[in-house]
Amino acid sequence: MSAVIAITSEKGGVGKSTLAVHLAGAFAERGLRVTLVDEDGRVGSSVGWSRRGPGLPFPVLEPDEVRPKALRELDALIIDTEGRPKRKELRDLSERADTILVPSGVSTLELESTLSIADYLNSEGGARRKLKVVLTRVPPTSGAGERAREDLREAGLTVTNTLVRQYASYLRAADLGVLCRDVPDERSAQAWADILSLSREIL
Ligand SMILES: Nc1ncnc2c1ncn2[C@@H]1O[C@H](COP(=O)(O)OP(=O)(O)O)[C@@H](O)[C@H]1O
Ligand SMILES: [Mg+2]
Repeated sequence: MSAVIAITSEKGGVGKSTLAVHLAGAFAERGLRVTLVDEDGRVGSSVGWSRRGPGLPFPVLEPDEVRPKALRELDALIIDTEGRPKRKELRDLSERADTILVPSGVSTLELESTLSIADYLNSEGGARRKLKVVLTRVPPTSGAGERAREDLREAGLTVTNTLVRQYASYLRAADLGVLCRDVPDERSAQAWADILSLSREIL
């Protein structure tokens, strides 16, 4: 059975699609069989990403292209979502997924949104143990990522050790329809190292 990893957040534009595409890319590089399902039909989603470039090293499917039998052969299924889930959507997602990844920026506003989605999952009984927060778009030098990680952990949340730092390579990667490791920029290797490290914490 494949591990189902759903990516959601209370706010939009926090980095869900960036995380979904790169996590899938890291799994693929590690030789895992992975598929990304794009449940966000809007522009800027991961299907659009995969079509802009030469092709990503894993399948990116729309929900109606998913074949349940093929899913059983996978190591990991990653679900990218629109975010801002209604309570019922979040409940459905937490039933389908083994892990719910919530990317969060380090600003107070974003941390509050993350605490609020965690509160809801907590009220859903078993769902909270599926929740993992990933701090993302972390300023590389300020220490804000480490502080946010500490604060969320003190509030009882599971937070990955890896901080996904803020690099321009991710924006270029989205424009070019590739992974950040394939962007010609001196910091791309650092960005990719964050993603590989994160992928090992997830699976
Ligand atoms: N680690 C990061 N460093 C720099 N920019 C990032 C990072 N993660 C996401 N972004 C940028 O933030 C914006 C929103 O990201 P996106 O993945 O589309 O969010 P969402 O899917 O949650 O709406 C995009 O412009 C993306 O390139
Ligand atoms: Mg998105």
